Amino acid sequence: MNDKELTMLRQAESLRKLMIQRRSVRSFLPDPVPLEILEHCIAIAGSAPSGANMQPWTFVLVRDPKVKTEIRLRAEMAERKFYAEKITLEWRERLKPLHTGPEKAFLEQAPWLICVFEQRYGTDSSGKKVHHFYPAESVGISVGMLISALHQTGLSILPYTPAPMDFLNEVLFRPKNEKPFIILAVGYPDPDYKVPDLQRKSLSEIMVLV
Ligand SMILES: Cc1cc2nc3c(=O)[nH]c(=O)nc-3n(C[C@H](O)[C@H](O)[C@H](O)COP(=O)(O)O)c2cc1C
Repeated sequence: MNDKELTMLRQAESLRKLMIQRRSVRSFLPDPVPLEILEHCIAIAGSAPSGANMQPWTFVLVRDPKVKTEIRLRAEMAERKFYAEKITLEWRERLKPLHTGPEKAFLEQAPWLICVFEQRYGTDSSGKKVHHFYPAESVGISVGMLISALHQTGLSILPYTPAPMDFLNEVLFRPKNEKPFIILAVGYPDPDYKVPDLQRKSLSEIMVLV
């Protein structure tokens, strides 16, 4: 390897060390996080690649306690139905190690909820529908970049997906072309929260060299 490659290798190694420490946190301290930090992270998410550069994403940053309470109430309503009626046996088994249940206190604890919406289509200045290409893939990449930016900044995150999530349009007054994609609860981790003991697949299991 030449000097440039060695420098890049060291960078990749140290980034790997930092990034593999990311864990989903399900309990947060109420300590506030300055908006300016989140704005930088959202700008990073907004620089993600997107199908035909349509940038089909909206990030709603929620810090108002009344709105967080409303989101928690509506999410827990959906969760109670999910755990009582919809969950399959296999799904229940898969969730066991995560110790999740219908109660979602983190929705009120975390100083911020970032509610991400996928714009399934856009509208031009005359109100005509504009096609969006690969909106779900584009938003997924953007959320990945957002999670990475938040983690590197030193914040903790829980990606959260109540099913169904369409109540978010009503609570956050989003138009019908926007489909709720994910909620990221963001803040500082509760030091008493123990992350579940999970195994990550090895490199040889996830990587194929051709
Ligand atoms: C698309 C997506 C949806 C998720 N939804 C939930 C959720 O609804 N509730 C939850 O507690 N965790 C949720 N998670 C977090 C996963 O459970 C977590 O990422 C996984 O168990 C691996 O743990 P780690 O993030 O600590 O590595 C979600 C993650 C992703 C990527």
